[in-house]
Amino acid sequence: MSDSSKFTVTAALPYANGPIHIGHLAGVYIPGDIFARYKRNIGDDVLYVCGSDEHGVPITIKAKKNGIEPQDVIDKYHTMIQNSFLEFGISLDIYSRTSNQEHHEVAKEFFKKLLDDNKFIEKTTEEYYDEKEKTFLADRYIKGTCPICGYEDAYGDQCEKCGASLEPSELKNPQSALSGGKLTKKETSHWYLPLDRHEDWLKDWIIKENGIRWKSNVVGQCKSWIDSGLKARAVTRDLDWGVKLPIEDQKGKVLYVWFDAPIGYISATKIWAKKNNKNWESYWKDSNTKLVHFIGKDNIVFHCIIFPAMLKSYGDFILPDNVPANEFLNLEGRKISTSKNWAVWLHKYLKDFPNQQDVLRYVLCINAPENKDNDFTWLDFQARNNNELVAILGNFINRVFVLCHKYWDGKVPGKNNLEQIDEDIILKIKSTPNVIGDSIDNYKFRFALQTLMDLARSGNKYLADTEPWKLFKQSDKKARTETILNISIHITASLSILCEPFMPFTAQKLKNMLNIKSSKWSCASDINQIPAGHQLNSPKLLFSRIEDEQIENQINKLKQS
Ligand code: 2FM
Ligand code: ZN
Repeated sequence: MSDSSKFTVTAALPYANGPIHIGHLAGVYIPGDIFARYKRNIGDDVLYVCGSDEHGVPITIKAKKNGIEPQDVIDKYHTMIQNSFLEFGISLDIYSRTSNQEHHEVAKEFFKKLLDDNKFIEKTTEEYYDEKEKTFLADRYIKGTCPICGYEDAYGDQCEKCGASLEPSELKNPQSALSGGKLTKKETSHWYLPLDRHEDWLKDWIIKENGIRWKSNVVGQCKSWIDSGLKARAVTRDLDWGVKLPIEDQKGKVLYVWFDAPIGYISATKIWAKKNNKNWESYWKDSNTKLVHFIGKDNIVFHCIIFPAMLKSYGDFILPDNVPANEFLNLEGRKISTSKNWAVWLHKYLKDFPNQQDVLRYVLCINAPENKDNDFTWLDFQARNNNELVAILGNFINRVFVLCHKYWDGKVPGKNNLEQIDEDIILKIKSTPNVIGDSIDNYKFRFALQTLMDLARSGNKYLADTEPWKLFKQSDKKARTETILNISIHITASLSILCEPFMPFTAQKLKNMLNIKSSKWSCASDINQIPAGHQLNSPKLLFSRIEDEQIENQINKLKQS
């Protein structure tokens, strides 16, 4: 386990141009939440930050399409996204937004310092210009064919298919996404972050220092970037929506959204620290603090190369300790798409499956796209719920509670002589917390959750092998029955603690049922934590079967989209 006790955990700032779907949750916010919850539990000082990414072309395109102002777009979706995170128990310490004044000030100061310290170069180039709209076309205002993979809907800044980071001039068949109007070229000047100057240390840091420890997909993407030669990247744009440049006579220019967005992690920290009387710098400038970025694979280059180069240029910031980027989650065999409405939206899920946040959290973690793209299907969702959550976890806990209430009026029986089968399961109770903890430490959340389910499975097997319901009827086996149920209650208590990072709502219900307060990780291996005679509360239904009809309904909804 790690010795560092301070973690700055960031989750990619979602664009406030649409609601949140299962792909976001599986790739970024659930893994970040599991990590943050676990680290807090073991006593580490964790700051989990996120916020809405409210600049950039996706927002203005959406506003234009709907005939409203960008501010209306971001206000609507910022609130929706924030609510979804709250409803799904994503335990952010702050959900900020990049349109707020504090963020603008922090981003401007960051840019100004780099400018004053000669960390940028200024270049005049010819850029695409839309005569009809009288505007330069940057980033997502331009669409065309990706020069690398041939994907026809690539954006001017990035291909969403292969993840390549692009310049508009690299696109084949460029078109204006704004007006469809004629493209011309016009001279303009911008500030660039000369990534070539950073190549040597980035190479050493990513490949030599972290090449083994970081996920291979992350290192692989960085390596191919570095191998193809790092180029200077423009950090300003000719747009009117964004953070204005802190320079006189630069009207009509703003910071590139990918320059200001990651600074959003810092501004969010400052806002949180001010409110909570903390020192923000200890989360960003103390070499003992570990910075961890949770992101999807399309964000790797920004978090592993560009943002670190910005932090290094500023000086005295820490660099990320890890960037455990996930691959993509598909839906029923197809890429999730907001524009094609091919998605499971969180706010809609909760309407159809009220109070079943943990079922979705479970399925999205056990099937997370940790090392390769993965598929979410409604049939798998149903099977995981019915065959795992209901049949294994829920069933075990329910049996234990029913027996305790039936035989001892809900008072925990004592532990007597132990047999080999008891010793075996006790060993499992004692070792499981460390296995799960180590897996979370190493960003292996699927394995961590499988290990949790293994404990519940072992609990079921223990009951099936010992058959306490038969023993109780034999007058000389009362003491034996007590021991079995005492151990079973301790498995339940252990599960209540260990499931908290993954299924926080279930953890809370279980704790209420067990009538216990402590949820410390170390207690999960303590087989004496609940004294004999302790009064349990009555059992509550933790999970319920999902019927075929509900699943067909979801599949039909998707088909209609
Ligand atoms: O890809 C995205 O959705 C971006 N809005 C992520 C930004 S992450 C960060 F740097 F702020
Ligand atoms: Zn591509």
